[in-house]
Amino acid sequence: MTTTLKIGMIGTGSIAHEHIQAYQKMDNVELVAFCDINPSQLNHMADRYGISETYSSKEALLANADIDAVSVCTWNAAHAECAIAALNAGKHVLCEKPMATSVADALAMEAAAKKNGKLLMIGFVRRFGNDAQIVTDFRDKDFFGEIYYGKATYLRRNGNPGGWFGDKSRSGGGPLIDLGVHVIDLLNYLMGQPKPISVYGATFQKLFNRPDSKDTVAYSSSTTDEKDICDVEDLASAMIRFADGSVVSIEASFSLNLKEDQGKIELFGTKGGASLAPQLELYTDINGYMTDIQLKTPTALDMNGLFYNEVAHFVDCVLNNTECLTPAADGVTIMRILDAIYQSAETGHEVMI
Ligand SMILES: NC(=O)c1ccc[n+]([C@@H]2O[C@H](COP(=O)([O-])OP(=O)(O)OC[C@H]3O[C@@H](n4cnc5c(N)ncnc54)[C@H](O)[C@@H]3O)[C@@H](O)[C@H]2O)c1
Repeated sequence: MTTTLKIGMIGTGSIAHEHIQAYQKMDNVELVAFCDINPSQLNHMADRYGISETYSSKEALLANADIDAVSVCTWNAAHAECAIAALNAGKHVLCEKPMATSVADALAMEAAAKKNGKLLMIGFVRRFGNDAQIVTDFRDKDFFGEIYYGKATYLRRNGNPGGWFGDKSRSGGGPLIDLGVHVIDLLNYLMGQPKPISVYGATFQKLFNRPDSKDTVAYSSSTTDEKDICDVEDLASAMIRFADGSVVSIEASFSLNLKEDQGKIELFGTKGGASLAPQLELYTDINGYMTDIQLKTPTALDMNGLFYNEVAHFVDCVLNNTECLTPAADGVTIMRILDAIYQSAETGHEVMI
């Protein structure tokens, strides 16, 4: 194994900035080539980051034998084809969340990684926050007792990122697969990865992408289609049951008539509880007194810090064979949950996993 990891980027849109800037901070990484099917975006990014090797197809990039690993930052529906092609070409892969747009694709990706003996890491970036690490530390030292309930909201009042995000054929869905995926994964991880057994979900298409809105959105896709399609849900709500009896409840929206955007992640155990966002707080009962604990240690990281930790972990896993914190198998589990929630929303019934 080389000591300098040579990286290719497949998909050079908005989130690619985070991957690129993280790789650029590392001494043991060389960013070699960019690939994007959108030539103007590809050229813009290559100019900005000083990359001379550019490709309009993943096959051409993957034919470069010098490249050890790739970041897949395409829209969701292209994750599977890009990751599988990269793994078959002998590259390690860091694939953005959600892993795929179907369980079948996620399983095919996992199988390709196994067959080729290469790492497939899924970009569950929220696991790389200080808050997640501190909560798992408290959990492992039994601060929470039995954790039986987790609850998260990831609600945007006017936050459809545009481009492909509203086009189901490229996104696989709306806020559930885009935002809900983060908090479902994070809660499942913090709760010690209990096995999901069933879900009950509801989705709504009421406000779409607020086509008449005069306000800008906080995060936008770099893909600017002539006509913004919006055939995905704008609100999703779900309850997930796990084999150990615990339950998670989540809500995620792109468009919702609420006062302000909300991002809350809460855990409840028999001995203690926690609220992660915006700042980590822990709750317990000491000698019968209800007690709130705020840590001196900084707990909230910005996007840049989270992505640096994620990308640095990927590099460490590849170069040093470190155990991956977010392996393909976890991506498959979360994909099963997402798929089941969409099925439940369609049928109106609980769906077994
Ligand atoms: N982890 C996070 O917090 C986070 C945040 C935002 C986006 N994301 C994920 O990152 C991915 C990209 O999102 P984005 O906001 O950067 O979108 P974007 O529209 O800005 O960029 C996507 C790029 O992928 C390119 N592309 C599509 N198919 C391709 C293919 N087959 N080969 C090469 N290039 C291809 C497009 O041309 C586009 O330039 C999505 O999966 C999204 O869910 C993750």
